[in-house]
Amino acid sequence: MKITVPILLEKKRNNEKIAMLTAYDYSMSLLLDKNGVDILLVGDSVGPIFSGYENTLPVTVDEILYHTKAVVRARKNALVVSDMPFMSYQISKEEAIKNCGLMLKAGAEAVKLEGGIEIAETVKALCQSGIPVMGHIGLTPQFVNILGGYKVQGKTDDAKKKLIESAKALEKAGVFSIVLECVPEEVSKEITESISVPTIGIGAGRFCDGQVLVINDIIGLFEGHRPKFVKKYLDLGQLIERAVKDYVSDVKSGRFPTENHIYK
Ligand code: KIV
Repeated sequence: MKITVPILLEKKRNNEKIAMLTAYDYSMSLLLDKNGVDILLVGDSVGPIFSGYENTLPVTVDEILYHTKAVVRARKNALVVSDMPFMSYQISKEEAIKNCGLMLKAGAEAVKLEGGIEIAETVKALCQSGIPVMGHIGLTPQFVNILGGYKVQGKTDDAKKKLIESAKALEKAGVFSIVLECVPEEVSKEITESISVPTIGIGAGRFCDGQVLVINDIIGLFEGHRPKFVKKYLDLGQLIERAVKDYVSDVKSGRFPTENHIYK
């Protein structure tokens, strides 16, 4: 079934969990789409994962646009969400509409923006322009220089109150779902119960309406730091290493190519 924004809202009403993964390229997106992933997020994590950037801040609109187009070509059923890069929606509502509009023109069906109450007006303007918005609060990696690192958020009463206020402000502004990143489980539970749009957790516990993880983390294809909340389903890195070593050894020893691999 083709996943749409109204279907995701219905999933929350029916208590059906939502499965989201990041996706950056065509081949992987084909596999994710055909195996039941509801939402493909063209995350700005593409910066560290695909391009080797230190964090997500250098990622540009053109880069997200390029990866969005690749993912869209593979998409049949999933909803494609483009993650808006740092400084692509903060400067003015006009710039936000222009940059987010480019993603929809490329075939994405929604955009994701990091930030709470402070971006509510921008979210409202985007929704009024026909651009569905996914919010993202808690640990917002684009704020790494303010947060001083990638730390669990919402641990004090005051921080928890601010997160709940932000979730409600984003809902009022028109978001169709909110990513909750690295927040204590009881905080994400309270947010999930107090808003009518689905929450998608990453390091936010069991009570969110859905979950998201970075694809490379779950298949073991990223050598960097793996946070506690990641479940690794496969060690693809190790399998690739073995295959590459075998190939190199076959080439060097003359075992490849064989008769089966040549044209006569
Ligand atoms: O860019 C990203 O991968 C994200 C996540 C929510 C996983 O924003």
